[in-house]
Amino acid sequence: MNNRPHPLVAGNWKMNGLRSSLGELGAMAQAYDSALRAKVDLLICPPATLVHAASIAAAGSGIGVGAQDCHAHVSGAHTGDLSAEMFADAGASAIIVGHSERRADHGESDAAVRAKALAAVRAGLVAIVCVGETEAQRRGGQTLGVVGNQLDGSIPTELTSAQLVVAYEPVWAIGTGLTPTAADVAEVHAFIRERLAFLLGADGAGVRILYGGSVKPSNAAELMAVPNVDGALVGGASLKAVDFMGIAAAYR
Ligand code: PGA
Repeated sequence: MNNRPHPLVAGNWKMNGLRSSLGELGAMAQAYDSALRAKVDLLICPPATLVHAASIAAAGSGIGVGAQDCHAHVSGAHTGDLSAEMFADAGASAIIVGHSERRADHGESDAAVRAKALAAVRAGLVAIVCVGETEAQRRGGQTLGVVGNQLDGSIPTELTSAQLVVAYEPVWAIGTGLTPTAADVAEVHAFIRERLAFLLGADGAGVRILYGGSVKPSNAAELMAVPNVDGALVGGASLKAVDFMGIAAAYR
């Protein structure tokens, strides 16, 4: 497993967090010692209101700060929207695009997600593209078909492995405490790896593929040991430093 991409544990705070929450980020920074830094990259994606303050709070710690979504355009008449360039200006290094909550709540299509991924990279940031099946799709045996279609539609094939991270997040595992078996995760991640090789060529081997959905300190080591799992995208357990660093500790 010598050629595995350098792992990444990314936290998605979703619509949670006030300025007072930045103390948790400070605690994460304190706990992120040089031994752990050598083994795993860390990223926290707070709500947009906190991106700039978080980038200041994390400065010098090695923890990156990211956003949870962006508009595809650089600027313009789009009330309430924020561009990738604005997040870059605020200190972000990455943007999550196509999270299932945005696909469901805002009707984001694969084409829209692809445009956002391109926008993130246009601004010099890493695009974290999320894919994953619903419970009904899994029960119907459609998991690989659904994930394959999302990848084909959402991944810009001109990206390199340094510009792109893919997160596999089964919708039914998000925030539910349920997780797929290690064998199920292995099957989907191997499928994603193959598809990335098809879409990106040789660069597909270097793209980090994160698993997301109810990752906790108690299950992180087992999930992170699965072949082609290059880290985690963590929701609820990224809000507290003790939990997030407990997950990162799977790489110690
Ligand atoms: P969860 O969320 O860890 O709370 O299940 C994961 C995600 O939505 O990224």
